[in-house]
Amino acid sequence: MRPRLDHVGIAVLSLERRLRFWTEALGLENEGTEVVESEGVSVAILRAGGSRIELLEPLRDDSAIARYLAKRGEGIHHLTLEVDDLDAALSRAEGAGAEILGEGARPGAGGRRVAFLHPRSSGGVLVEIAGPPEGALTSHIGPGQPVLAYLREPHEKLWGVVRALDATGVTLEGIDLASFDDWAAEVARGGIAPLGPSVLFLPMHRVERLLLDRPSGELPSLADRFLARTGRSVRDVLG
Ligand code: CO
Repeated sequence: MRPRLDHVGIAVLSLERRLRFWTEALGLENEGTEVVESEGVSVAILRAGGSRIELLEPLRDDSAIARYLAKRGEGIHHLTLEVDDLDAALSRAEGAGAEILGEGARPGAGGRRVAFLHPRSSGGVLVEIAGPPEGALTSHIGPGQPVLAYLREPHEKLWGVVRALDATGVTLEGIDLASFDDWAAEVARGGIAPLGPSVLFLPMHRVERLLLDRPSGELPSLADRFLARTGRSVRDVLG
């Protein structure tokens, strides 16, 4: 697969102030705000078709975004291309004379490895190259595990149990996240939900993130919620 535009990062002084433009004037959907402690930024994620626009507000004066703002003011900070094979993409870039910044590939957001090309190489654009969220996929996730799948083109969120997983995609027995509670309610009543889980194949190019369905903070996992509500484990019900 050729590189695809994953996101454009924009440095802003205030998320609150700038979000209005993107959501109200342009009608983009704000998916939520995330704090990336290691980068010292707060990130608002705006969906734009298969890509995203990310607004970056610094949390600390020593963050890269704070330094950028001090020097250049608000504006486009970087763009990110996603590739299937980061190492191959980097040797290709180097072979073509592009300069890779710093120590090269490093862990980035969302379980991906990323690297940056120096703006000198591109004529002033900081280009981030991101590998697929592969580490997350292969090292922790396998058949039988309940997961949350975030898809793109179109944007969807699913819950399901992994049936198979390889480089081409994920086979999931699952259900749209929005229907999960209705399904649990129907199982609790002893009925059969007409729109219950089905077996789906998700090609890898649509998989933006695959996360284990785990408790987070105070919140139980969805599988635990299902058990508490129905008295049955999801594994049993899905067979
Ligand atoms: Co970025």
